[in-house]
Order: sequence, then C-alpha cells, then structure tokens
Amino acid sequence: MFPEHLLSALDLTRGQMESLFELTDRMPRKGAKLDILVGLTILPFFCEPSTRTLLSFVAAAQRLGADVAWVADAKASSVAKGESIEDTARIVEGLADLLIFRHPETGSVARAAAMVHIPVINAGDGTNEHPSQTLLDLYTIRERRGRIDGLRIAMVGDLRFGRTPHSLGLGLTRFDDVEVFLVAPPELAAPKDFVATLVDRGIRVHQTKVLRKVLPHIEALYVTRVQEERITDAKGKPDVERYERLKDCYCVDGPCLEALEPDAFIMHPLPRRDEIPRETDKDPRAIYIPQAWNGLPVREAILATMLNRTS
Ligand code: NCD
Repeated sequence: MFPEHLLSALDLTRGQMESLFELTDRMPRKGAKLDILVGLTILPFFCEPSTRTLLSFVAAAQRLGADVAWVADAKASSVAKGESIEDTARIVEGLADLLIFRHPETGSVARAAAMVHIPVINAGDGTNEHPSQTLLDLYTIRERRGRIDGLRIAMVGDLRFGRTPHSLGLGLTRFDDVEVFLVAPPELAAPKDFVATLVDRGIRVHQTKVLRKVLPHIEALYVTRVQEERITDAKGKPDVERYERLKDCYCVDGPCLEALEPDAFIMHPLPRRDEIPRETDKDPRAIYIPQAWNGLPVREAILATMLNRTS
C-alpha cells in the first residue's frame, strides 16, 4: 500500500520506489496524453517561489487529464491575511482531490496533511525535505546507471539549508551499499542528526570541505545552490555579508571537470547560480537539464499512484 501522503523520502519503501519507477517508464512524455485522472482536481499551493516543481506538477496533472487550479503566490491568497496552514488545508480539502503544498516552515506540510482526508504531497517544507525531487533524482540515477545500489555520490554545496540533499540522502538509505561524500564548508555542513540517520541506516558517509579530494572516487556529483533566502541574521533578516562569503564556495568548472571520472555524471536540482557555469553544460556528463525534464513523468507516476489510478 502506497502511503496516503508523500511527506518524506522515507515514506516509501524500496519496493514502492521501484514500482513507481516502472510506472514512470510507461508515463506519457511531451506530445502524449492519458485520461487516467479525468474528473479529479489537483491543487498545487505554493508559498515559496518555484518553476520546475510547480510547472511539472501542473503539466503532469494536465497530461493525465486532471483539472488543475493552483496558487503560485501566497501573497495573493488568504495566507497573506494571516490564515493558518490548518485552515488553508481544510478549505482545499473541500475543493480538490489532492494537495501539493510548499511552505517555508519545516513540518508545515505534515501539519496540513494531518488536517485533511485527501493525499498531500510535500513540495518542499523549509530546509527539511522535498521528496518528489528525490524520486526524480533517483529515477535519473537509475536511468543513467541502470541501478542505484552501490552508488558513490557526492552532495556538494549547501547541505545545511538545502532540502533536496536531505531528502536524497534519506531516499538513498533504501538502497544497498551506497557511499555518500558530503562536501560543504563548515557553515553549511549537513545537520548532525541527518548524518547520524544516514549512518544508522547503513550508508558509508564521508564529510569534507574539499571537493577536489572526492572527485576521483565518485560516479555522481550532486551540486546544490547556496540557499540565499535562508541565510539570515539573528533577527531573520537576509545576511548579505555571509551569503556573499559563502555563495561561491564551489564551482564545477574546468579543473573540476578534469578531475571527475569520465563516466561520472553531474546533477543539480536547479535553479543554479554560479556553482555550475554555463560552459559546463557542454560537457556530456552534465545531465541536470534532462534530470529536470524527468520531473514530468515521475510526477505523473506519483499523482497516478497516490490517486489509485494506475491500472
Ligand atoms: C529546489 C528546492 O525548491 O528545494 N528546487 C527544486 O524544486 N528543484 C532547490 C533549490 O531551490 O535550491
């Protein structure tokens, strides 16, 4: 049984992920359609900016025949009038068959899910998790490499505030013999409890701030953006000085590409800033654009599965 909600990458067993990937293989890409979600309404409600996650969920829902209404700007909703997450969720419950929710607070999506009897997908809750991104990341690894077991992957950049490396690390614990290199400056190092969870669940974890050291050992380089919007001072105001100091901590450019194994691949959840220069796009190992495109069929499979419309 697939879980009612998708809140964490740990919500799915390995078997559930594998079934979802098999279904993804059969889902329509651009130019094709199915009618398996006809009659259902899907409601993405985003209280933080988004391009890929919002658009690919909308495109996925429409490609499967669902109706979609969405909120892309919380300032234009009653959240701006101080409405609670709980009340917002209850209202959506009466209007839609599935809620996709993004919000800046850790745990906010779980709070919304606890209020309703429709499936809820966590499209990012603050610095915590972003499980549908993990499913498309893992699907991309499986597609490129044929398997996820035995993977040697480096996650690089903002491992403290970035929710995509958090979910990806947890998702990888469902596979065997995985080795993870966590590469970050001390100020952006992965939270201790996250690292402890990976180790407890059998991942071989190495931590360093030196990217060059890990490059000869890995098959996948998962690069992340320094989360400017989450680097704040004690009063919650943007800490521009700290961001400026940290933002260019890594750059996947010429010397880095030379040190990377010839069959390794470079991933990024996107959006990117300067951590991957545009010249790197020409390198055949750069797969972040097709990785983002996989968001469409993976999210189609997620919607079809959570709405019990897979057969
Ligand atoms: C990520 C996110 O929102 O966490 N974006 C995405 O959904 N692909 C990564 C980021 O914003 O850095």
